[in-house]
Amino acid sequence: MTLYAGIDMGTSGVRVVLADGADKIHADASVSIKVDRPHPGWSQQHPDLWWQATCDVFDRLSANHPELMAQARSIGLSGQMLGSVLLNKNDQPTHTSILWNDQRALAECGEMLAAVPDMGMRTGGNPDPGLTAPKLLWLAKHVPQALEQAEVLILPKDYVRLCLTGERASDLSDAAGTLLLDCKSRSWDEELARAAGWSLERLPVLVASHEAAGTLRPELQRRWGFSKPVPVATGAGDNMACALGVGATIAGDAVVTLGTSGVLCAVDGGFHPAPQSAVLTNPHGAPDTYLSMGVVMSATQSLEWLALLSRIEVLQLAALVDDMVAEQGIKSAPVMRPSLTGIRTPDNRPDAGAAISGMTSLTDAPALAYAVMEGVAFQFFDCLKAQKEAGVPLNSITAVGGGSKNRLWVQLIATLFETSIQVPGASSASAAIGAARLGSVASGDFSVDEALSRKPANAMSIEPDPQLNGVLAARYERFCDLPK
Ligand code: XUL
Repeated sequence: MTLYAGIDMGTSGVRVVLADGADKIHADASVSIKVDRPHPGWSQQHPDLWWQATCDVFDRLSANHPELMAQARSIGLSGQMLGSVLLNKNDQPTHTSILWNDQRALAECGEMLAAVPDMGMRTGGNPDPGLTAPKLLWLAKHVPQALEQAEVLILPKDYVRLCLTGERASDLSDAAGTLLLDCKSRSWDEELARAAGWSLERLPVLVASHEAAGTLRPELQRRWGFSKPVPVATGAGDNMACALGVGATIAGDAVVTLGTSGVLCAVDGGFHPAPQSAVLTNPHGAPDTYLSMGVVMSATQSLEWLALLSRIEVLQLAALVDDMVAEQGIKSAPVMRPSLTGIRTPDNRPDAGAAISGMTSLTDAPALAYAVMEGVAFQFFDCLKAQKEAGVPLNSITAVGGGSKNRLWVQLIATLFETSIQVPGASSASAAIGAARLGSVASGDFSVDEALSRKPANAMSIEPDPQLNGVLAARYERFCDLPK
């Protein structure tokens, strides 16, 4: 048996799966990591944390499954997107990584847009504090030495790959999130780099997601028990890797990712940017396609926040919501927009807080939790509308990520979207599977088409609920009236 290692380098943890050529997972290990939030709106992680967690996971896999590690032939990566990783000439980080959900660089977004007013049509998105370029402008003002000492800017998963192989590189899907890439010509853009106070020489080479961007260092190959030299595929941003993990490679294939953030990803054959409604459009991890992304900044994160506040474990809280819906229906639940870390699509309001209406002394934790889940679903509906308006095709929809295990949550989205949604059996592992698939191409065992377009074998179909339809439509109107 031949296996392929897929690394999912996320915001809340690092996970590695060993999957075979039919996506069956033979070993799966993960380590949690924490986000450092020293000030309101800040969100950062030191790159060393990612590397330490990656080593811990591989050490654990090689201790528990040496026979499987010996059969693993390649590594691929999926990574949290948009984080700034600045490295000096010795590949040491000159600053902690400012993450995709950090809000500190708000003023710098306006500066960047004023310098290059049409940039959204080139980069596939207007400046947002989560994207990388405004963070460079912020650092120039507040921590100039971090920039002065930096020789290269890369993205989070690229740092892990660099530690694995010793090679600096990035891929198009992740590179686009810097706002320094011209998405049409698929190359770094000098004018944009200048507007961010950066330069082309300090950007990495771009390698296709499925190609090897180096080989695992021999000492790591020995330490983890790989039997032969291991090609390490460049990999892709987590949203692209999730899409590749369920075979979404053709225009019209769409994926709802219900993770820490929520993203409506739609594969497009052409470049249809919609910066005016804060949709991000990046090159996909599959060749010659784009991925349009409507982003809900806090998805499962909102439910986890409420679980923590109410001191109820999150799965138990979700079960209480199911009971409430079955016994009382949803009419007495408040209407909420749980935008705890701002709104990206469609308003680009990183400063907007959450809002709620209809709360009474009888509102309990399950009613609030329902309101959170419904509010996330409403935000996905806003994404759908914005992306359709931009001319992005959305035909078949698959749901992935931790939240996709929740049937009610997916059904709320299916009802609003008026279409069935497929949920694959291993839906929470799709980013890691996508990463393993990219590695399987880099190993030479599979062609791009064979590995990346394969649909999950055991998907369950969740249908819209006709009984919910009218009630949800009325509640969506109340949602639209919530203050921002
Ligand atoms: C996408 C986005 C998030 C991150 C999470 O633009 O900001 O989904 O990719 O890692």
